[in-house]
Amino acid sequence: MADSLPSLAFLGAGSMGGAILQGVVASGIDVDGGIVATNRTKEKASALAGLEGVTSIALEEQPAGNTDAAASAGIVIVGVKPAMVPDLLREIAPALRPDAIVVSVAAGVTLATFADGLGSDARVIRAMPNTPATVGKAVTGLAAGGAASADDLAVVRRLFELVGAVVEVPEEQIDALGTISGSGPAYVFLLIEELTKAATGKGFNEQDARLMVEQTFIGATALLAASGEDPAELRRRVTSPKGTTERAIAVLQDAHLDRVFAEATDAALARSRELASGA
Ligand SMILES: NC(=O)c1ccc[n+]([C@@H]2O[C@H](COP(=O)([O-])OP(=O)(O)OC[C@H]3O[C@@H](n4cnc5c(N)ncnc54)[C@H](OP(=O)(O)O)[C@@H]3O)[C@@H](O)[C@H]2O)c1
Repeated sequence: MADSLPSLAFLGAGSMGGAILQGVVASGIDVDGGIVATNRTKEKASALAGLEGVTSIALEEQPAGNTDAAASAGIVIVGVKPAMVPDLLREIAPALRPDAIVVSVAAGVTLATFADGLGSDARVIRAMPNTPATVGKAVTGLAAGGAASADDLAVVRRLFELVGAVVEVPEEQIDALGTISGSGPAYVFLLIEELTKAATGKGFNEQDARLMVEQTFIGATALLAASGEDPAELRRRVTSPKGTTERAIAVLQDAHLDRVFAEATDAALARSRELASGA
């Protein structure tokens, strides 16, 4: 496939939509026909206005901005809050190009909701990115609707690869993926916070404790990425028989981290089902 993207419309370019938009611009990829972004307020719109090749619309100045943007785009990225999606779909449905691919990043909003708003022949792909998208290190899950072709999925994969790695899953697994990679950055930050508390508990000042822990996470994950080794193998290399690390690992394993992670992700999955049913 040619390394270019069709014209893009980001409807709702806040934290997540904005991160993807910034990734596209930073990559320098050719976007045939350019990029349009919409936000409600002038304040949000002006933050994106200086980006090369981007037309940034504030709906408070241009109330038809969403339909104007949608009408022009080969890929329409829906980046508003989940509760706002049905109204947005009603608004843009008459303006969409027949060949448009609609990509939703809205957590929990199903392909069926998109079919209700846009018709069952609309080419829709659900995406579940995570916040490291802002630094080009996202994991994004993609689930394609029935009307989307393999080519549609390939072009949307290319878009999200500009901000990190992509995993394709059936829609019934996208919420489960959200409990792993979507929420996952929060689990990692919690582990960092707790190990930092252990360091301050051993008498290190806050600054040194943070440096030790944060650089250990950054260094260990960089080693994982660079070595291509299994994490269990890298762990074994730090863990000499009868050594100090072995004692610490034994304590962590006695805390049944496997069960804790299974329960934590089950709880997240139960919550995403509640949210989908409007609770
Ligand atoms: N943040 C995450 O980690 C994450 C991860 C995966 C998926 N998501 C999904 O990403 C979506 C957006 O979340 P977010 O965290 O990026 O929220 P956000 O920062 O509040 O972004 C939403 C943006 O939509 C704009 N907006 C509001 N009404 C609009 C309308 N009618 N038309 C066009 N734009 C409108 C807002 O502009 P104003 O501020 O000017 O009102 C805001 O910039 C959600 O559906 C969420 O489920 C987020």
